[in-house]
Amino acid sequence: MTNKGMGKDRLQAGVVIRKAKESDMPAIIGNWISLMAQNYKFNPEANKHRREYVQVYERFLLKQIRGRISTVLVAEAASAAEGNPQEKAMGDGEIIGHIMLEIKKIPPVYEIEREGYVDELFVKEGFRGKKIGTMLLKEGESWARKKGMRQFGLMANVKNTRARQVYLKFGLADLTTKMIKLL
Ligand SMILES: CC(C)(COP(=O)(O)OP(=O)(O)OC[C@H]1O[C@@H](n2cnc3c(N)ncnc32)[C@H](O)[C@@H]1OP(=O)(O)O)[C@@H](O)C(=O)NCCC(=O)NCCS
Repeated sequence: MTNKGMGKDRLQAGVVIRKAKESDMPAIIGNWISLMAQNYKFNPEANKHRREYVQVYERFLLKQIRGRISTVLVAEAASAAEGNPQEKAMGDGEIIGHIMLEIKKIPPVYEIEREGYVDELFVKEGFRGKKIGTMLLKEGESWARKKGMRQFGLMANVKNTRARQVYLKFGLADLTTKMIKLL
């Protein structure tokens, strides 16, 4: 198995993790809509979205793809054109997951001033449990390290036990719990 760096990493048979292109946006947006639907189910009151939420996200996604201190990586099911007929069954070039990251500032009183922060992580249903989420996290961490970060963080819904399992296994630990009260 070859490893050619962030440009096109073949990390597991049939799946390539690579930097997102603007042409991937419709697929990423489709996947993100499923993520939003899940968040809504977890907390219907706190996670009602605006009517124009997709357009707002589209602008944000473009900014994150183009950004200097942000990135979006996609997991792409390798195309059958690459030769392995079994790969076709994986989805034939389909965008089956993504991770969005940015460098986030931490209040300047701490020794560690910035961290590599995961804005979102998603793997399509039907492709879950195959370590694709973990692969995306690994590549995200590697991006943060290359940016000189010494800390990697994210927020997880307390009801999202599956994602929390993945994060704990990955080596992330609970630090704070965000608490809210609707007014
Ligand atoms: C969370 C998510 C990204 C994980 O991706 P994934 O590719 O399924 O995760 P992985 O296969 O890398 O994770 C493996 C670990 O997940 C856990 N896991 C796998 N299937 C699980 C299940 N059905 N229920 C609970 N935990 C499960 C196991 O601990 C597993 O480790 P193991 O294989 O060593 O036993 C994916 O489930 C997802 O997109 N969920 C919906 C969106 C979401 O919740 N995103 C996170 C927002 S914070």
